[in-house]
Amino acid sequence: MFTDMDENELQKIREKAANALNSAADIGTLETIIGSYLGKEGKLSLVFRSFASLSPETRSVMGIKANEIKRDLTALAEARRQAFVAKNGDDVADWLDVTLPAAKLEIGHIHPLTQTIDRIVGIFHGMGFEVFDGPEIESDWYAFDALNIPKDHPTRDTWDSLFISDKQVLRPHTSPGQIRYMENHQPPLRIILPGRCFRRDAIDASHEINFHHIEGLMVDKDISVANFKAIIEEFFRQYFADSEKDSDRMSCIVRLRPSYFPFTEPSFEVDLGCVLCGQKGCSACKGTGWMEIMGAGMVHPNVFANAGVDASVWQGFAFGMGVERLAMIRHKINDIRLFYDGGTNFLNQF
Ligand code: PHE
Repeated sequence: MFTDMDENELQKIREKAANALNSAADIGTLETIIGSYLGKEGKLSLVFRSFASLSPETRSVMGIKANEIKRDLTALAEARRQAFVAKNGDDVADWLDVTLPAAKLEIGHIHPLTQTIDRIVGIFHGMGFEVFDGPEIESDWYAFDALNIPKDHPTRDTWDSLFISDKQVLRPHTSPGQIRYMENHQPPLRIILPGRCFRRDAIDASHEINFHHIEGLMVDKDISVANFKAIIEEFFRQYFADSEKDSDRMSCIVRLRPSYFPFTEPSFEVDLGCVLCGQKGCSACKGTGWMEIMGAGMVHPNVFANAGVDASVWQGFAFGMGVERLAMIRHKINDIRLFYDGGTNFLNQF
């Protein structure tokens, strides 16, 4: 393309390059421009290369001219470089300001369900309960038989369990922990047992296939339903209070409805007087003023026998409550799936 280059064209390149060099606003742009004219593949180098095809006479004239332009532009480039260096102290300062605060690191925090478990455990701890843990994969003995739920008994169906083999099941509740603890500890005893549970439920706003339960167990010589009611009301009072002061003022009431669990006798459903509307009736309590909140009952003698505890000497209560449900009521969360989809917009609120 430069074969028929004349002096005019060379002159144009010189003017363009000089303009560009003079108008570069920062050292980065300047270096790019220098490269594009004076670099190995720059416009001026291409001009020199094109001289090969010129006649010897033209080549010498053009060569002198081009060399002069190259010398001038190189000098201009260097002068502009120096100007930037003089202005900024050094050219690095143009793109690196070491006094700027560092980019903020995103730090995670404790998941709202773990916070809820910690809160619940803390309250029971204050009432003398010890924390116990059990496996998420259970044998059917601990998950069912030992809890007075025999093989092939229709009540097994109510736990919608996920069996992973004939004998092993993802625990559908934390009650197996009652047996595991009592096997190795004689009463008097007070334990709570938080843990992840699994059921093959259809997933919707209030059901997940994995969720958390907290089991409670208190056994002594004369523990009664009255003790259970007092402890659970005290627990709710502290759980729903926002501050120490609140917990002095607030009161929570529960009512017990007759129910059935194979491992307790008598058994009840525990309803909590709605803490959101003060029992006036709202959408959370479906207008009834009561929220169904946990299952409970007096430990069945067969359960004691299976764990090696003498039911003629000891008696007590057990209960199991859903962690998600308690977190949802306290924080007014309307969809259980939010806990598990990992969305930070949701999680950052806790
Ligand atoms: N395990 C029962 C459930 O899965 C709850 C419960 C625990 C009931 C302890 C009574 C005693 O619903």
